[in-house]
Amino acid sequence: MAPIPILSCLCGALLLLVFVVAAVVVDATAPSLSLAARHERWMAKFGRAYTDADEKSRRREVFAANVQHVDAVNRAGNLTYTLGLNQFSDLTDHEFLETHLGYRYQLRPEGQTDDEFLKGNTPVAPVNMSKAPALRNGQFRYMPDSVDWRTQGAVTEVKNQRFCGSCWAFAAVAATEGLVKIGTGNLISMSEQQVLDCTGGTNTCSGGDINAALRYVAASGGLQPEAAYAYSGQQGACRSGGVRPNSAASVGAPRWARLYGDEGALQELAASQPVAVALEATDPDFRHYRSGVYAGSSSCGQRLNHAVTVVGYGADGGGQQYWVLKNQWGTGWGKGGYMRVARGNGANCGIATYAYYPTMDS
Ligand SMILES: *[C@@H]1O[C@H](CO)[C@@H](O)[C@H](O)[C@H]1NC(C)=O
Ligand SMILES: *[C@@H]1O[C@H](CO)[C@@H](O)[C@H](O)[C@H]1NC(C)=O
Repeated sequence: MAPIPILSCLCGALLLLVFVVAAVVVDATAPSLSLAARHERWMAKFGRAYTDADEKSRRREVFAANVQHVDAVNRAGNLTYTLGLNQFSDLTDHEFLETHLGYRYQLRPEGQTDDEFLKGNTPVAPVNMSKAPALRNGQFRYMPDSVDWRTQGAVTEVKNQRFCGSCWAFAAVAATEGLVKIGTGNLISMSEQQVLDCTGGTNTCSGGDINAALRYVAASGGLQPEAAYAYSGQQGACRSGGVRPNSAASVGAPRWARLYGDEGALQELAASQPVAVALEATDPDFRHYRSGVYAGSSSCGQRLNHAVTVVGYGADGGGQQYWVLKNQWGTGWGKGGYMRVARGNGANCGIATYAYYPTMDS
């Protein structure tokens, strides 16, 4: 890879091309680099610095384990998806799961253990799908084979919950942004920080309830735009007293549905508007997903721990059906921040268990 002499600056574009090609070549051979070199390169790419040599060597071990897993899956090449290193590659599974998820199914009453709560619990209001928005007039609306709310301009930029279990706030806001666009024609990027600060109860960076978030969204009279109440990655005091409701962003009461795994019901909902859902994101492959259609194990979905937004569905050239998820782990995760998850074959990690969405009902 000796430098190629360039005779004139006319060749700026060519020079750029040479660098791009060189970068691609180097990347393609990355698995053959020494682990230390790959770690250094990764640190530079993601701007990671460690406090001291001990920390660095500890992190390098974690990085090595993650690299080994990513390389092994990609080398085997027998799955419907590929993995890639990303900004999470020097975290252990435990560190990652503790800090980047945050879905909680309803609030457990004081004094009850999780087991007691789950055993005795029946969902408050299983939705009668005849009353779902797709069927509001009592008749089936045309349900297309594929939907992508991104192409309808109803999805804002990919956001980043950072080291905070606030997925519940992001999913609630993404569903709200979608409905406001569909209802009013205006796409407004709205404030997750406001929802994180103001929902109250035990809804925090340690997890929260999407339905509670959507109830707050309705009660707020319209969330502030993202820029007016920016995300900090930490919960703070609710500033809504100091800001007027943003009437351009107002929505009505939320609904939620227990879907019992019925992907057809989720399809009806997702054909009407972007929908917040819960799923299980425990699998290390989820964290390092890069492309293709992700498929979880048959037991994935029994421990719902993450909230995302279904912004579409479809099928790829090979006929594999998928859901399109908008996540909030930045654009460096997945395919520009999005994931395709298997649909119709029992590998969806519980995505059709609970759905949450705002309405324009008064
Ligand atoms: C894929 O290949 C790996 C390594 O050969 C193997 O361990 C794994 O069971 C295979 N998975 C599937 C789904 O075939
Ligand atoms: C659902 O609602 C429709 C229309 O209101 C009604 O005809 C139907 O009986 C309801 N189904 C259930 C299971 O409650």
